[in-house]
Amino acid sequence: MFCGKKNCDYSDLGTGAVRRRSFFGLFFGLAGGAMAFAIPIYAAIKSVIDPLKNKGLGGKFYLLTSLDSLDEIPQKFPIADDIKDAWITIPRQTIGNVYVRKIQEGNETKVLAWQSLCPHAGCTIGLKTQENPETQNVELLFSCPCHTAHFDLNGKLLDKKPDAPRNMDLLETKIENGQIYVKFEVFAFGTPEKKSS
Ligand code: FES
Repeated sequence: MFCGKKNCDYSDLGTGAVRRRSFFGLFFGLAGGAMAFAIPIYAAIKSVIDPLKNKGLGGKFYLLTSLDSLDEIPQKFPIADDIKDAWITIPRQTIGNVYVRKIQEGNETKVLAWQSLCPHAGCTIGLKTQENPETQNVELLFSCPCHTAHFDLNGKLLDKKPDAPRNMDLLETKIENGQIYVKFEVFAFGTPEKKSS
């Protein structure tokens, strides 16, 4: 090593002091190398495990809108939450959609909310108008595009088909200070009973 002075002592070259510095250099080099391998391996394992943990994403109440802004026509709302993926958190990603409508029963105002995924195989249910052959009135219905299951505006399955096993999945709601909250959940597809996925 060059000391930059007139009389320099290079006597410790090749001695214990230099060997100690070499040892520490080697030690920290190996530790750094091990960390460089360990971090991506940990991230890979975590990225495999996390989706399993995230399977139950939702299962809590989400704020939707104000009670005043709802009416009898169902409205579709996206549900957004933070998605954790290995080392990063992606904020406010859409994790699903719900339909919500408000109905009046006597003096009581009720809010009904449904999961937008079809209970048969998980396609996204839409809304469509259709003429009622008995009354000739044009009616609004929930309709699944995949295997043409239809549901009335209370989520009741209209055309019983072997492949459309149950009514639309009703979700829990609550009203606080005039705001609507819905408990977002995804249920198992293809089963006659509504059960957690
Ligand atoms: S997924 Fe809706 S009827 Fe099959």
